[in-house]
Amino acid sequence: MDYSLKSADPAKIECDCIVTFAYKNELSNDAKKLDKQLSGLLSDLLTNSGLSSKSAGMAMLYNTDQICAKQVMLVQLGEKAELTAAKFNSKLTGLINQLKDKPIKSALVCLAGVKPKGIDLMGFFQAATRVCENTQYHYDTTKKSKKEKSALEEIILHTGQSKFLMPARRAVKLGLAISHGESLCKELGNLPANICTPSYLAEQAEKLGREQNLNVNILDEEQMAELGMGSLLSVSKGSDEPAKLIIMEYNGSKNKNAQPVVLVGKGLTFDSGGISIKPAAKMDEMKYDMCGGASVFGAMRAVAEMELPINVVGVVPSSENLINGKANKPGDVVTSMSKQTIEVLNTDAEGRLILCDALTYIERYNPAIVIDIATLTGAVIIALGDKATGLMSNDQKLANNISKAGNQCDDRVWQLPIWDDYQSQLNSNFADIANVGGRAAGTITAACFLSRFTSDYRWAHLDIAGTAWVGGAKKGASGRPVPLLCQLLINHNQKPL
Ligand code: BES
Ligand code: MN
Ligand code: ZN
Repeated sequence: MDYSLKSADPAKIECDCIVTFAYKNELSNDAKKLDKQLSGLLSDLLTNSGLSSKSAGMAMLYNTDQICAKQVMLVQLGEKAELTAAKFNSKLTGLINQLKDKPIKSALVCLAGVKPKGIDLMGFFQAATRVCENTQYHYDTTKKSKKEKSALEEIILHTGQSKFLMPARRAVKLGLAISHGESLCKELGNLPANICTPSYLAEQAEKLGREQNLNVNILDEEQMAELGMGSLLSVSKGSDEPAKLIIMEYNGSKNKNAQPVVLVGKGLTFDSGGISIKPAAKMDEMKYDMCGGASVFGAMRAVAEMELPINVVGVVPSSENLINGKANKPGDVVTSMSKQTIEVLNTDAEGRLILCDALTYIERYNPAIVIDIATLTGAVIIALGDKATGLMSNDQKLANNISKAGNQCDDRVWQLPIWDDYQSQLNSNFADIANVGGRAAGTITAACFLSRFTSDYRWAHLDIAGTAWVGGAKKGASGRPVPLLCQLLINHNQKPL
């Protein structure tokens, strides 16, 4: 989709359709102006189409001879005082999808006048662009029948005043980049595990590196063995697919030595549970167990496209968790790269086993901050459902910044404590630490496990098991938390987190 910005009188802009907005019983200011130029047809539409009572209402006006556009779509936003950025974004998604069903090539959206409270104008433009572009993603890679392309080619965003044209250009660029990152994250997540293997992810990283000018390095099992990654390799031993440690470096800062932000994503391409096998119901959804890794791919793609002048490193430990004669057995003791030994009491707690070695590996970058992203525990779904990502951190300032970024882009997190009091649940009689801490506080004890490997830097952990994909009829990857990670990097560039 092409995006452009205009500030001229909407009535004088040539396009197939103008989209303008109304509140509960009142046209927005932009719509009022158009209404005058259309001799009151829009106010008629508002009162007579039932639009004012329906909060999801959209109505189309075709007799628009007095203006340049061929038609006008009036969209009801509900009560003005109750309009939030999230509500607006879902309206925008709905209306763009409507437009895409029609023979409309270009649409002018009168955005500027309907900015919800609590968001700045450029943040609003960034989000709007992202939301429009997100309607473009559709999974059909493994289907014979592909979706027909819609006629809609150009979205023109109206900035109100001409002084906003320049900053809005940047906002559109950011919004587009984030959306492209989300799409990459969704696509990798949605691909089945027989295609999306650790080797496939490694190839995709090489490809991304070529396209976006990232330094990409892939460690194979031999190299990981040399580094002493006995914990990570204990998981991949049980599978025919070799593990990969994927490393992507983006050097946007003029200062080569500027401390990077390091993102570490769980790239478990299929989680059967291993010998501690999972129940059959919904086991297909364990192809999504690499969504943390996919979100790192998405964020790396976006940060390169945004051209942020910062350094970012993305690391994705990738493996399958399957069962063969060499697979981990409950009670096995493995040695991590940090030299701490781990008793594998449950082979289904494999995410932390591959993450801990990656978290030790990245110490070499002297990171400014480290964020790991993982579909780590079913327990976080019980705690927070599919609305909030679980956040845990050893640094409260970092945690606060992450919460703030999540609120800014409506990709929200909720913090859980990782007090020392929980650590004793991980005691083992046979190793330095056990890989599970019992049923109580499962999300927290998983983070406590990771915290044993992250004490040397500022670190936060995002448990996305509830938010990375949706199940049911609309089953599919959500692209979360790519918007959050991108917003964090944007904020970090403005003021170090
Ligand atoms: N990948 C799963 C977590 C998960 C479960 C994500 C369901 C999304 C939906 C993870 O590897 C896992 O199996 N965790 C176990 C940990 C337990 C054995 C301590 C869990 O949550 O049951
Ligand atoms: Mn598991
Ligand atoms: Zn898992």
